[in-house]
Amino acid sequence: MSRITITKPDDWHIHLRDGDMLERTVNDVAAWANRAVVMPNLTPPVKNVSDATAYHSRIMAALEGFPQFEPLMTLYLTDSTTPADIAAAAQSLLVCGVKLYPAGATTNSAAGVTGLENLKPTLEAMQSHNLPLLIHGEVTDLDVDIFDREAKFIERTLAPLTTEFPALRVILEHITTEDSVNFVTESRPGVAATITPQHLLFDRNDMLVGGIRPHLFCLPILKRRQHKEALRRAAISGNPKFFIGTDSAPHTVETKESSCGCAGCYSAHAAIPLYAEVFEEENSLDKLEAFTSHFGADFYGRARNDETIDLVRVDYLSPESLRFGPSTVVPLRAGELLKWRLEKTQ
Ligand code: DOR
Ligand code: ZN
Repeated sequence: MSRITITKPDDWHIHLRDGDMLERTVNDVAAWANRAVVMPNLTPPVKNVSDATAYHSRIMAALEGFPQFEPLMTLYLTDSTTPADIAAAAQSLLVCGVKLYPAGATTNSAAGVTGLENLKPTLEAMQSHNLPLLIHGEVTDLDVDIFDREAKFIERTLAPLTTEFPALRVILEHITTEDSVNFVTESRPGVAATITPQHLLFDRNDMLVGGIRPHLFCLPILKRRQHKEALRRAAISGNPKFFIGTDSAPHTVETKESSCGCAGCYSAHAAIPLYAEVFEEENSLDKLEAFTSHFGADFYGRARNDETIDLVRVDYLSPESLRFGPSTVVPLRAGELLKWRLEKTQ
C-alpha cells in the first residue's frame, strides 16, 4: 500500500510547554491534529481555570494558521484542589480534565499529589461533574523499583480508586506494561488508556544495550520487550479503551545529554508516521484510524473530526535535531529512516 487516508487525528496527551518552546510545539501538533489535550505541568503548574485560560491564550497566539486547532486544557491536581475548583473547571468550555501527578513522579511534578485520602470530596466532584481524571500512574516510594512503579500503582491506588468512584472517568496515561493493558481491558467502562509511539517502538534494551541513549529516557520508563508486545496488541486490538496520546515533550539537548538527564521524548513532528510504522509492522494498518482518530474522541464525548489526512509510504531521513527558538531538541528517531510521510491536511 502506498497511500492511506484517515480521519484527522487528535492527540489526547501532549506537553506544549510555554514561552520560547510554544511556537514549535503547537504548530507541530496542529499540522496533523485538530485537538490536543495539553498537560498542565508548567512551572508554576496550571492549577485553576484562570491559569488554564491564560495558558490557552498563549497557545492560540503561537499558532500560525491551523484555525481548526483546539487545545483542550487540563488542570494540575494538587493536595489543595477543591470541589469548587472542579465545579469551575466543569463549567469552563476550555478544560477537559484534571491531571494527577503523584508528587515527584516525573518532570515538574513537585506540586503533585502526596495522597488521595484528603482529596475524596474533590474526586466526588469530578465524578458528579463528569470531568475525567488523567493519571500518571506510578508510585514514587523509593523502595519500589523503577520498573515496577506502574504495576504497583495499579494495585495500591488505581484499582481501589476505580471501585470507590464507580462513575469517575479515568485515563491511565502513557501505559508501559502488560499489567496496565490487562487492568484497563478488564476494568469497568469509563477506564481507558493512552499509548505513546516510544512505548510501541522501543523497549529497555533499545535504551541501554551498547550504551545509554538518553533521548529514549522517558517516564514511565521503557520496559522489557514482553510489555512492548502487549502494548502493540492493545493498540491494534480495536478495543476502544486504547487510543493515541503521544506524550510528546521537548527537552533541550543539554538537559537530555547530561549526567542527570531529563525524562521525555519529542515526537509531535512525526507522531502519525511513527504510529503508522508500528501498525504496518503488525499488519494492522486498517486499525490505525480508529486508534488515532476515533476512540479518543468517543471516550471524551466529542465528535470525530470531519477532515482527513493522507499518509504516503516513502522512506526518508528524520531530522537529526529540531530548532526551538534559541534551543535544540533531538526528536524521537532522529537521523533515522522513517517510512511514512504526512502528505497533506484538509
Ligand atoms: O517522560 C516524560 N516527560 N514523562 C512525563 O510524565 C512528563 C514528561 C515531561 O513533561 O517532560
Ligand atoms: Zn505526559
